[in-house]
Amino acid sequence: MNISDVFKNNEKWIQKKLDVDPDFFNKISQGQNPDLLYIGCSDSRVTAEDMMGVGPGEAFVHRNVANMVISTDLNVMTVLNYAVNQLEVDHVVVCGHYGCGGIQAALQSEDLGILNPWLRNIRDVYRLHRSTLDKISDKEEKYKKLVELNVQEQCINVIKTAAVQKASKSRDIKVHGWVFDIHTGKLIDLKIDFEKILKDIMEIYQLD
Ligand code: CO
Repeated sequence: MNISDVFKNNEKWIQKKLDVDPDFFNKISQGQNPDLLYIGCSDSRVTAEDMMGVGPGEAFVHRNVANMVISTDLNVMTVLNYAVNQLEVDHVVVCGHYGCGGIQAALQSEDLGILNPWLRNIRDVYRLHRSTLDKISDKEEKYKKLVELNVQEQCINVIKTAAVQKASKSRDIKVHGWVFDIHTGKLIDLKIDFEKILKDIMEIYQLD
């Protein structure tokens, strides 16, 4: 990649936006009011806004390796709290993707240095769902199932936060688990039944 191309592309992008709406930058500079928080993977092929067809101002975005929502990660917790409390988003999306390098790395037993404590959280998801995953003999299918189960667990982590618990008492805030199929470009709604899952875990996490 030629870095100077980036600046040329930027000039073209500005012009394209102004051609459609001469007031575009004036409008976005007034403030943001996105309806959706998107938590996805840092993978360069899974472009948040592009694949959802949304423009500037429409999605608040957080990306990290394997779209994790970890309660001790100040970064994701800051994004989530800001989106829920200040921006008052109505939708929180956790989007994983097939072919996720983070998920694959977590399934290897080799020492990956600084990545270990991060991947540990994915290994915990594997342990939680071991009986389901160990029944799947096809390696590719097992990866895919872990991608989906990881999305499910990260959605539960979103729901467990005080910010979402508090917000859900005063407004209709929805959590969604999605997977981006890198082979087809398709965005898949996992249609996770959170009501049922939460019923099982409410007591443990003292949610009400
Ligand atoms: Co990934």
